Amino acid sequence: MKKVITYGTFDLLHYGHIRLLERARALGDWLVVGVTSDDYDLSRGKINVRQSLAERLEAVRRTGLADEIIVEEYAGQKIDDICRMGIDVFTVGSDWVGQFDYLKEYCEVVYLDRTEGVSSSQLRGGEKPLRLGLAGEVAFVNKVFRESRYVNGLEATAYWAADGRELEDDVRALTECASFSDLLEQVDAVYLTTAPAEHGAQIREALERGKHVLCEAPVSIDPAELEDLFALAAQKGCVLETALRTAYSMAYARLLLLIKTGIIGRVVSVDAACTTIRPVDRTDEKRLGRAWNSIYDWGPTALLPVFQILGTDYKERHIVSRILDPATRYDDFSRIDFVYEDAVAQVKVGKGVKSECELIVSGTGGYVYVPAPWWKTDYFEVRFENPENNKRFFYQLDGEGIRNELVSFVRAVQDGREDRHVDARISRAIAQVLSDYAAGRGVTELTVTE
Ligand code: CTP
Repeated sequence: MKKVITYGTFDLLHYGHIRLLERARALGDWLVVGVTSDDYDLSRGKINVRQSLAERLEAVRRTGLADEIIVEEYAGQKIDDICRMGIDVFTVGSDWVGQFDYLKEYCEVVYLDRTEGVSSSQLRGGEKPLRLGLAGEVAFVNKVFRESRYVNGLEATAYWAADGRELEDDVRALTECASFSDLLEQVDAVYLTTAPAEHGAQIREALERGKHVLCEAPVSIDPAELEDLFALAAQKGCVLETALRTAYSMAYARLLLLIKTGIIGRVVSVDAACTTIRPVDRTDEKRLGRAWNSIYDWGPTALLPVFQILGTDYKERHIVSRILDPATRYDDFSRIDFVYEDAVAQVKVGKGVKSECELIVSGTGGYVYVPAPWWKTDYFEVRFENPENNKRFFYQLDGEGIRNELVSFVRAVQDGREDRHVDARISRAIAQVLSDYAAGRGVTELTVTE
C-alpha cells in the first residue's frame, strides 16, 4: 500500500484545499492529512487563522478525502511522522517548492500545482479591513502601529496626538487629525493610549458614534464609570476591549493554567514588580498632568497576576507611594500590599525607581519564577525543593503580546465574540485600586526630599 501525507492549516476550507487533497489522494492508496495545531501556527507566525483546530479538523474530515488525520504540533514533526508511519510520498502545494526537499532523504516529495485565485488569506481578508485610529502621544503608539502591520483585517489609517513629539515618522505618515472627534470621523475603531483621566469621555464619544475601542489599561480609574462604559458598549453593539499586552502572551496564559492544576500546591503569595526609569519634567505642569504616573501606567499590569491568581476578594490593601507632585498625584514609585483570607500579594511599580522586575508565585509545593521583564513573558520556571524536579517552559512571544492583542480585538469585532483575556471583573478590581489611590484612600505617602 502506497502511503501519502500532506500538511496544512486548512483554515476556512476552500476549493484550492479540496483540489489539493484529491490530487494527493490520487498519488497513492492511503492519505494522511496533518492539520497544524493553533500553537504551532502561532509559533510559525501565522497569527490570523480564523478557525480553531477542532473546526479545521472537522472540515478536513468532512471532505471524506482523508483516510487518517493527525495534528502537526512542532517543527521537525514531518520527519518523525514519515518514518513512524512508513510514508512513501510527501506532497504539498507549489507555493512551497524547494522548501521540503530535505524530506527526500525519507520519501518521495511531490509539489502539486497550487490552484490559482483562492486562498485562506484572501477569504479572511475578504471583508474590508477595520480602519484603526491611533489616539495618544506616548512612544507606545509607535509599537502598536508597528504590530498592526502584521494583523490581517486591520489597517491603522489615522492618528491624533495632543503632543506628537514622541511619535515616529511612520505614524506621522498616517492621516493626522486635529481632534479626537475628527479621528472618529475617519475610522471604524480606535486604539486609545491617552491620559487615563481622559479615557472616560473619549470612550463614551467613540461608542456613541458606533466605533469599537481598544483602550490601554486602565480603561477608567472610576469603577462606576467603567460599568457605564461596558453597558454602553453592549447597548451600541460595539467592542470595548482592555489592552493589557501581558494577558495575550502564550507563556503567561500557560503559567496561569499550570498554577490552576495545583503544580505548586496552594498559592500563598504573588509578588510582581514593574519598573522603568523614565524621569518626567516636574516643571512642565501641562505635560506632567497628561503623563502616565507609575501606578496608572504599571498598576494594571502588575495587578493582573494578583487578581487572576488570587481573585479580587482581598480583605486588606495598603498603598505606599512616593508622590512627586501632589496636584497631579504623580507618583514615581508605589507599593501595594494585599492580604487575602489565605494568601498575600505585593506589587511594586515605578517610573523613577528601578527594581528587579520579576514575578514570583509562591505555593505550598513550589514556586513559579518569571524573570525580568516578566510582563513580556516568554519563559518561566516551576521550581521545587528538589531542583531536579524543576521544569522550564518557553513559548515564543512576538510583538510583546501587542500583536495577539490586536488579532483578538479584530476577531472580537468580526465575530461579535467577547474577548476573555482580561475579563470585566479584573478591570473592575483594577479601577477600584486606582480610584482609591486617586482619592487617597488607604494610601501612605512617603516624604520626597530631593
Ligand atoms: N493550496 C492549494 N491551492 C490554494 C491554496 C492552498 O493547492 N489555492 C494548498 C497549499 O499549497 C497547501 C494546502 O493547500 O499544500 C494547505 O494550504 P494552507 O496553507 O492551509 O492554505 P492557504 O489558502 O494557502 O492559506 P494561507 O492563505 O493562510 O497561506
